[in-house]
Amino acid sequence: MTTPIRILVVDDEFSVRDSLQAWFRDSGYETEVAASGKEALAKMGRQRFDIFLLDIKMAGMDGLELQETIKEHQENPIIIFMTAYASVDTAVRALKLGAFDYVTKPIDPEELERLVRNAAERRLLQKENLSLKVQIEELTPFKDIIGESQPIQDVVELIKNVAPTDTTVLIRGESGTGKELVARAIHAASPRRFMPFVTVNCGALPEGLLESELFGHEQGAFTGAQFRHKGKFELADGGTLFLDEIGDVSLKTQTDLLRVLQETEITRLGGTKPIKVDFRLIAATNGDIEARVAEKSFREDVYYRLNVFPIVLPSLKARSGDIPMLAGYFLQKYARKMNRPIRGISASAMALLSQHSWLGNVRELENSIERAVIFCKGDELLPEHLPLHRSAASEGSSGLPLSEVEKIHIQRVLAETGGNISKSARVLGIDRATLYNKIKRYGLLVRE
Ligand SMILES: Nc1ncnc2c1ncn2[C@@H]1O[C@H](COP(=O)(O)OP(=O)(O)OP(=O)(O)O)[C@@H](O)[C@H]1O
Ligand SMILES: [Mg+2]
Repeated sequence: MTTPIRILVVDDEFSVRDSLQAWFRDSGYETEVAASGKEALAKMGRQRFDIFLLDIKMAGMDGLELQETIKEHQENPIIIFMTAYASVDTAVRALKLGAFDYVTKPIDPEELERLVRNAAERRLLQKENLSLKVQIEELTPFKDIIGESQPIQDVVELIKNVAPTDTTVLIRGESGTGKELVARAIHAASPRRFMPFVTVNCGALPEGLLESELFGHEQGAFTGAQFRHKGKFELADGGTLFLDEIGDVSLKTQTDLLRVLQETEITRLGGTKPIKVDFRLIAATNGDIEARVAEKSFREDVYYRLNVFPIVLPSLKARSGDIPMLAGYFLQKYARKMNRPIRGISASAMALLSQHSWLGNVRELENSIERAVIFCKGDELLPEHLPLHRSAASEGSSGLPLSEVEKIHIQRVLAETGGNISKSARVLGIDRATLYNKIKRYGLLVRE
């Protein structure tokens, strides 16, 4: 046998956990215990289990809910329920939902061990296939990050290194470069991956609302606080908190955040009882946070707390080699979504995409492809489906100076010919030298 079978016992009763752990350890199984569904998910983030022994009635997340969550995260888990006689109906329901079997309480350990042995045999049969799947599963957090260019591969490498730790990460990058995507990938590759990923857009809320969003509040804490409300710090407990646009938070909120990071506890607005919180912090900004530190609108100590492991995302222009791959990926995504039989992107449309400046980075590219898919009625995306330059060149160009119209027109023709100078010159009815001069004068980009 290569690897031993690993069992996770989840029961809110200490005596059950304790005795089953001792029993199965003596029988040669690696055995871990958890007192709640939440604790079980936290442990699952750190190691894989083959067999789950679940109590059905537990406070918080009950056994059935836990079964559903385990199934979302793991292929073919083997789950055995332990239930009081009174809830056998529930156990039968669990079987229908795919549980392996159940035992009734009080537990006869020998009967349970027989079941576990059967389950273990089934598990070993599955294992060969499974190890392959595990490898694939381990790659998946990064499969959504498209790109083969060096800058993006460097980013993926940083993510792989930092994900297994609890280190605070600061993600920098222009708008639309994928900061949130990266934050989610770090969470998904971390031991906290089965626990919540909670985002707060700090730039979108005025100070007071942001504070109540983060800390939560007790009933009656302020006018309009009709009910007690859990804050994002609490909701992220056990998981990852993503503070987007951190550069925008006020000095007061920075001070409060610092206190939470130092004391790892919070108090709801209007509350008195401190509540322990345990989250991994990822923050993002597209601004010049150092300038804000210099002008004293961002606390230096908070900056150092956040800037432990910076990841700087390249602009799309800095990795323009990835444009064809990204465009193809988004084309597939939206063609499937809108059920369009589009096979690919024409060479001239691709040339246009490669030359565009993409100030809005990957988001702008994604939006352009989505719109193009809407316009495309055939089986190939063409330049006319793309919104780029469309406004100036084809509509309402009467307000533009002649030189601007000429520049736009040349750029379009170049795009349509895939940057072929001779062909473009022919289309434009001028000779190649003239075209070269104009390209130089207008600073147009031509692919070599
Ligand atoms: N490398 C990538 N591969 C695939 N999709 C990407 C990549 N980078 C970004 N995207 C996609 O581009 C869109 C914008 O990314 P995201 O929201 O993460 O950017 P952001 O940096 O958070 O932007 P903002 O600063 O405006 O909030 C998303 O739909 C995301 O999935
Ligand atoms: Mg974002």
